[in-house]
Amino acid sequence: GAAVPFYGAHQAGIVTPAQDRLHFVAFDVITDNRDALVELLQKWTAAAARMTAGKDAGAIGAVNGAPEAAPDDTGEALGLPPSGLTLTIGFGPTLFRDAQGKDRFGIAAKRPAALADLPKFAKDALKPEISGGDICVQACAHDPQIAVHAVRNLARIGFGVVSVRWSQLGFGRTSSTSRNQQTARNLFGFKDGTANLKAEDTKLLEDQLWVQPGDGEEWMAGGSYMVTRKIRMLIETWDRTSLSEQEAIVGRNKGEGAPLSGAKEFDEPVFSAVGTDGQPAIAADAHVRLAHHEVNDGARLLRRGYNFVDGSDGLGRLAAGLFFIAYQRDPRKQFVPIQTRLSRQDALNEYIRHESSGLFACPPGISAADDYWGRGLF
Ligand code: HEM
Repeated sequence: GAAVPFYGAHQAGIVTPAQDRLHFVAFDVITDNRDALVELLQKWTAAAARMTAGKDAGAIGAVNGAPEAAPDDTGEALGLPPSGLTLTIGFGPTLFRDAQGKDRFGIAAKRPAALADLPKFAKDALKPEISGGDICVQACAHDPQIAVHAVRNLARIGFGVVSVRWSQLGFGRTSSTSRNQQTARNLFGFKDGTANLKAEDTKLLEDQLWVQPGDGEEWMAGGSYMVTRKIRMLIETWDRTSLSEQEAIVGRNKGEGAPLSGAKEFDEPVFSAVGTDGQPAIAADAHVRLAHHEVNDGARLLRRGYNFVDGSDGLGRLAAGLFFIAYQRDPRKQFVPIQTRLSRQDALNEYIRHESSGLFACPPGISAADDYWGRGLF
C-alpha cells in the first residue's frame, strides 16, 4: 500500500516493480490553444503528485469544498492507501503534428526522430478508434480502484482541453521488472517476463531503456519511448492445443518456464541445442528465439504489459489478451525490428491478433514541485 516517489530523474512506472493493475488512457487534445494545453499539463502534474502520495486530486478534496460546487476530487479513493500508484505520461506523434499536418502547439520542430510512426506490420488488424492518441497516461497500482480514480480525475481536470480517445484496464502484470519479483503468467498460462530487462540491470538500462544526452531532442534525455499493442489472444483455440505444441510455440516449458534447451527458468536459452529427435530444441519459429536480442542486433525491450478480459465478444468467446507495453531508448532499433520479425515468422501468430497500437515519447522525471510534465517542450 506504500507510495512510490513521484519526483526523480526518470518517471515512475517504468522500472518501478510492475504493480498488479493497470488503467491506461489515451487522450486527444481538442483545443488549438497552446496556453490551455500548458496550463492543463501543470494542473495534471500537481494532481498526479498529490494522488500518487495518496491524497485527493485537488487541495480542497472530495468532501470539504463549498456544497454548491463540484468537488475537486471524485471521492472513490477516500480512505484507501496510495497502493503503489504511478502515473506515467507520454506524448504521441499527433501532438507534434496532427492528422491534417498542422503544428497546433508550435512544437513540431521538437518531435524526436525516434518518435517515427510505426510501420504497418504483417497481419496487423488495428482499429483506429482504439489506437494512437495525442497524450497517454499509464496508471498502475495494486488496487484497480486507485488506478481508475487517478485516470478519472485527470479526465475530469482535462474537461474542455482533452477528451478520452480510448482506455484499457489490465490485471495480473505479465512482466516482472525487478529481480525481487516472481514471474507472473499471461493468459496462455506461461510465465511472462523471465528474460525481461530488469531495474537492477543498470548498465543495460542506459544502453537500452533511457534516452541519453546526445540521442537527439535534449528534452527527452532521461526519458523513454513507449509502444503499446492491444493483442487479442484466441484463447479458445489455444486451449485445444496440446501441451507440447504450446511449449514448442513459446520455446519454453509451461511449468518452470525454462527454455526448451535447459532446465531452470533463468537458464540462458541455447539455440544451437538439439533434441533427442535431432531437431533444434528451440524451434526456428519459437517466440523466444525470434524475440531474443541475439537475433535482433542486441535489441531488448523493457516489457510492462498486463492481461485483459473485456468481457466476452458476443460469439461465445472471451474478449481476452495481452495489453503489451514496452519501453525502450529508440523504437526504430528495438520494437520495430523485433516486431517485424515476429509478425512474419512467429508461431504464436496463429493464436494472437494485434488490435491496437500506440507510440509515445515519455519525458524524463519531474524534478520538483515547480516542474511539470512536458516542460521541455514549451
Ligand atoms: C518472451 C509471450 C508478444 C517480445 C516471451 C515469453 C513469453 C511471451 C511466454 C517467455 C518468457 C519471457 O522471457 O518473458 C508473449 C505473448 C505475446 C507476446 C503471449 C502476445 C500475446 C510479444 C511482442 C513482443 C514480444 C509483441 C515484441 C515485439 C518478447 C521478448 C521476449 C519475449 C523480447 C524475451 C525473449 C528472450 O530474450 O528470451 N513472450 N509475447 N512479445 N517476448 Fe513475448
